[in-house]
Amino acid sequence: MHGWVGHNVYGAELERVLLDSAAIDRRVRELGDSISRDYAGRELLAVGILKGALIFLADLVRRLTVPVAIDFVAVGSYGAGTESSGAVRILKDLEQDIAGRHVLLVEDIVDTGLTLNYLLEIFRARAPASLRVCVLLDKPERRRVPVPIDYCGFVIPDEFVVGYGLDYNERYRHLADIVVLRREVYRGSSV
Ligand code: PRP
Repeated sequence: MHGWVGHNVYGAELERVLLDSAAIDRRVRELGDSISRDYAGRELLAVGILKGALIFLADLVRRLTVPVAIDFVAVGSYGAGTESSGAVRILKDLEQDIAGRHVLLVEDIVDTGLTLNYLLEIFRARAPASLRVCVLLDKPERRRVPVPIDYCGFVIPDEFVVGYGLDYNERYRHLADIVVLRREVYRGSSV
């Protein structure tokens, strides 16, 4: 059995490990290599989408061999819970001007695509030199709007996952593995 059951008090809500930390680490290195190759000779601005992308961004930038600046944007959907309501708003904007910069949006998961679609529209209008998307997890079954993904870590099935930055009601972000939440934990709940 994986270590997470023993060292967190919420183990009973978690069903199984989908991606363990070793698999994540390997894939993040590969993504870092691809991005470093593609951006050779250029300087990158990595934009993390709070809060879920925090841990992925932190690991990814340490695998890059090109110069990289970091900024964050916080986006919220109207309403909380496991379902995106469809409406998105910026809670915290970038601190840096992205005009003429090579921007890489870094996201933990693409579900409906609404968050990234919204951000891409807004950022495109600010005239970056380039704008690409790097996501750790892609859940294509849930897509409502198409999103161009340039770098993808893993395609995953339509299950509720937590850990490695992803939360359920703000819990589990600290887990090193990506773990499936038991369906009965969130089924029928409107939180
Ligand atoms: C999650 C995730 C993405 C978004 C993806 O964020 O981090 O930003 O949902 O969903 P979508 O493709 O349906 O738009 P959440 O709103 O849970 O905030 P968080 O990152 O702070 O956990």
